[in-house]
Amino acid sequence: MLRITVDGTAYEVEEGLTLLQALDDLGVLMKGVDIPHYCWHPKLSIDGSCRMCQVEVEGVPKLQIACDTPVRDGMVVHTGNERVRKAREGVMELMLVNHPLDCPICDQAGECKLQDYAFDYGQMHTRTREPRRALKKRVDLGATIVFDQERCILCRRCVRFCREIPGTSELAITQRGDRSTVETFPGKPLENDYSMNVADICPVGALTTRDFRFKVRVWFLEEVPGICTGCSRGCNVHVGVADDQVRRYTPRRNDEVNDTWLCDYGRMTYQEIGAPDRISEPAVRGDAGQLVGTTLEQAVECAAQLMRTAVEKEGPGVVAALASAHATNEDLAALRGLLAALGSETHGVPIVTGPADALLIRPEKAANAEGARVAGFGEPGLLLDKIRGGGVRVLIVLGHDIIHEQFLGSPEALAALDGVILLDTHRSRLEQVAHVVIPARHLAEKGGTVTNFEGRVQAVPAALEPAFEAVAEAQVLARIASALDLSISDESERKRETD
Ligand code: SF4
Ligand code: SF4
Ligand code: FES
Repeated sequence: MLRITVDGTAYEVEEGLTLLQALDDLGVLMKGVDIPHYCWHPKLSIDGSCRMCQVEVEGVPKLQIACDTPVRDGMVVHTGNERVRKAREGVMELMLVNHPLDCPICDQAGECKLQDYAFDYGQMHTRTREPRRALKKRVDLGATIVFDQERCILCRRCVRFCREIPGTSELAITQRGDRSTVETFPGKPLENDYSMNVADICPVGALTTRDFRFKVRVWFLEEVPGICTGCSRGCNVHVGVADDQVRRYTPRRNDEVNDTWLCDYGRMTYQEIGAPDRISEPAVRGDAGQLVGTTLEQAVECAAQLMRTAVEKEGPGVVAALASAHATNEDLAALRGLLAALGSETHGVPIVTGPADALLIRPEKAANAEGARVAGFGEPGLLLDKIRGGGVRVLIVLGHDIIHEQFLGSPEALAALDGVILLDTHRSRLEQVAHVVIPARHLAEKGGTVTNFEGRVQAVPAALEPAFEAVAEAQVLARIASALDLSISDESERKRETD
């Protein structure tokens, strides 16, 4: 370890790092030690092009760029003295010579580094009279990203991202001097599974996602920590909430899980939360064979009655459960607790699989596949055999992955059961055979813990309330247990302690 002193404070840092990397590793960069930077990004190669991160290093005659200056033992650094300040003001003046005066109509306003640093280092008046350069506005770089060439400060973060992270290299800087701009190659749009990350890392309003641009001003957003539910990686996200709706997911840095990235598919799964096909009302199957809306209390009583009748007639072994790999560990513990209290050992979990890559995307398409396994839920094959053989009369189902083509393909195999009790977030064909349907909350609406494919248990709070009456599956299951005069608290408590 080396000892360095920054603005009078001594730090111990690892050898071989640059000053910005060392301060970032210490967790003090922009959190106590403010060194403005545009082109440097903790997960990309060093570019050293913006010159905004200049600092004074004692014993070195010229100012140094902190992003590309290696730390050395005994180094003494000043990050905010008058000399440094003047240099940054000069950099900002040059950057703003050609930048449009667009902030009021720019979608990045409120989370723009150029805007932030202009407050700290900008001049009140321009010293140039020449017209600002006119470049192309609203350029479609691909299906997901819109580009405003005039706003680009040529930090090359987006170019390096495409080259170094997905490895697709769609973007390049073309032309020279004040005609330089970012372009795609002819006939090769920005098109990769991680394309929308370029909008996150663009420090200005040059790159915006087609999905979010001009939908809501960012200062109206409340950013709540969340977990993407698209696969078993469990990427950390900021859930952006405005007007009781989720408006976007953006990456939340976690170097152990997703660095600072999200895949495009996972990013867009926020749309599931406010989707029009959410199940919003409890329902029970009426005498005419149709599902009829009812209250949660009546749905719970109806579910309990189906289970009570089956147990009285044929014993607890005929009640079974299909868990969901989308449910939280707390929901799964409640389901195990209910089954244990009932005396049934018949259960399983369907986990849908799909394409994967070596970067983030995992084959299991649910956030809590590992949590379901740890909770004791195995492959659903034996349970499905038992259903086909007539050994199950009542089935509790969390979610509808069981009718995915990788499992049943259709709900018909469940049609002969005396009772199908469905707790689910979204409408599906499974409702055709359900006797009781109870709306469930999305992870963003209930919070809780999920376990990613590496066994990392991650906790998130609820980000918003659902637009309709719904409680978490664990609470529904507890109410069903209560209606049956059973207690599942011990199992839930044991699970919490294990976590
Ligand atoms: S588009 Fe954004 S990220 Fe790309 S070079 Fe320009 S300012 Fe940097
Ligand atoms: S890799 Fe998986 S967890 Fe991460 S954003 Fe994509 S779908 Fe979500
Ligand atoms: S951040 Fe150091 S030169 Fe750009």
